Amino acid sequence: MSGPAITRTGTSEAPAGERRTSRYAEQLIRGRRATRAFRPDPVPEDTLRDIFSLAGTAPSNSNAQPWRVEVVGGARRDRLADALRTAHAERRVTADYPYSEGMYAPVHQERRVAFGASLYGALGIGPDDHPARASYDAESLGFYGAPHAAFLFVTGDGGPRLAADVGAYLQTLLLAMTGYGVASCPQGLLSFYADTVRDQLGVGEGKLLVGVSFGYADENAPVNQVTTGRAGLEATTTFHT
Ligand SMILES: Cc1cc2nc3c(=O)[nH]c(=O)nc-3n(C[C@H](O)[C@H](O)[C@H](O)COP(=O)(O)O)c2cc1C
Repeated sequence: MSGPAITRTGTSEAPAGERRTSRYAEQLIRGRRATRAFRPDPVPEDTLRDIFSLAGTAPSNSNAQPWRVEVVGGARRDRLADALRTAHAERRVTADYPYSEGMYAPVHQERRVAFGASLYGALGIGPDDHPARASYDAESLGFYGAPHAAFLFVTGDGGPRLAADVGAYLQTLLLAMTGYGVASCPQGLLSFYADTVRDQLGVGEGKLLVGVSFGYADENAPVNQVTTGRAGLEATTTFHT
């Protein structure tokens, strides 16, 4: 991806008034989307290192960098996928961060329903076909076929402020992947089986916030044609001028 050099302060070397930087930013930010079907080809190790180094530039409160990141591929990835599917089948849910439907406001629920309709619609699964939806979700524990997954743990007390820092790391990671042509899907579902991930990877520290499946997109898969809209600016943002 080419664009003007961006300095440490975020100002562009492009002449004042030039809009190349905003186009570059748009290309990167809008170029990221959740991908749910992958080709099996692994990401080269050098590229992995470049991506995760770049992700580590994420901001955090007082630069504490309270993330612990575990990246899997190869046989370890396969064993973990099997263990996650088994934990799911045996209902061994161990979420470090509690989840409930009640945490969503009605407007969130409306957006979730619209998203679910387009995702499952693309898969040919009807709105009331709960068994088919559940089985697709269970299958997603195989990282949607991605050759790699990353698990983001929150260290320290694992509380909401530190989790917010790891959220910033998450988006930085996703954008770094996009910049390298690597597709991704953040998966909260993977965090429901925190003990399984810990056991399999020998992790002794931190609370599991989210997993990210990643690799090269299967561009032909219908599920990867799903597009998501967003609320209008005025619905989420107020400018106090
Ligand atoms: C924290 C987090 C957890 C998510 N969990 C899941 C998940 O478990 N399964 C899934 O398929 N997508 C998951 N997603 C992807 C969202 O569904 C997706 O980001 C959203 O619908 C917007 O679509 P887009 O990413 O393509 O713009 C998650 C995203 C985030 C940020």
